[in-house]
Amino acid sequence: MDVKMNGNLPKAELHLHIEGTLEPELMFALAERNGIKLPYKDTEAIRAAYQFTNLQSFLDIYYAGAGVLQTSRDFYDLTWAYLERCKADNVVHTEIFFDPQTHTERGIDFETVLEGIDGALSDAKEKLGITSHIIMSFLRHLSEESAMETLEMALPYKDRMIGVGLDSSEAGFPPEMFERVFAKARKAGFIPMAHAGEEGPPEYIHQALELLKVVRIDHGVRAIEDPKLMERLIAERMPLTVCPLSNVKLKVFETLADHNILDMLDQGACVTVNSDDPAYFGGYMNANFEGLVNELGMTETQARRLAANSFEASFLPEAEKKAWM
Ligand code: ADE
Ligand code: ZN
Repeated sequence: MDVKMNGNLPKAELHLHIEGTLEPELMFALAERNGIKLPYKDTEAIRAAYQFTNLQSFLDIYYAGAGVLQTSRDFYDLTWAYLERCKADNVVHTEIFFDPQTHTERGIDFETVLEGIDGALSDAKEKLGITSHIIMSFLRHLSEESAMETLEMALPYKDRMIGVGLDSSEAGFPPEMFERVFAKARKAGFIPMAHAGEEGPPEYIHQALELLKVVRIDHGVRAIEDPKLMERLIAERMPLTVCPLSNVKLKVFETLADHNILDMLDQGACVTVNSDDPAYFGGYMNANFEGLVNELGMTETQARRLAANSFEASFLPEAEKKAWM
């Protein structure tokens, strides 16, 4: 199919870590603004360091990079730069994750972070016509206690966030560790979702569904190893927010040509395309669509279904979803 056509399709992005949109140029600019010395000579050296062997090798670099984010203005600038990419790729709605603990652990206030992100999202609605939601994500390599404290900290700002997520190192950190945190978050009105089945086994997807009562699975590509689970996901139209370029960069699949997203789509799963941490993984939304056309032979019909799924799986009001589908 015509690769350009994908660019014209309206799309929603449902799996995007705002800290993962920190381009090396902005990393340097913020380091200078905040008087921080980076362990890299220039932006080329940063890009050269982005050779990952697995999820953890990426997370180590990603958490270090986030250290340049200090003020509300930094978070505003970061978010605004991402929103301009959305505009260019015809992403008309975005639901973004932020990781409060990445910042509160180094002494940055929750409010400072939220203020900057939310400020840019509000301006984007007015100036770019892009709608959005914010999802706060717990770091699963930290304790249940730390996640609980973070939830408490977030409660006064509940109206500005639609949901909670669970991310960071997956293997060895099963969803069951956060059952009580998610129960409390759901009670407070947060919509639950979790990363599961990226590197972790299908059992983690079962746990996310059964124990955390999630309404969306982030990644979920390893569900395909468990046919009964696939049947359930398809029957329930449980969304899987898949991130093709991320999966190749983090060696979940060797190449895009090996990716299972179109198999899952053709089986009837509600899969969507997302960029995850685009500054680290080599491209934003349209780069992911283009990769699927070029390396996996995605057809126009498949591309349209993926775009329609992104609205179906979003937290937009039903009438707005339908208008885009
Ligand atoms: N945090 C940012 N990107 C992530 C990913 N792909 N998996 C888990 N945690 C993350
Ligand atoms: Zn992610």
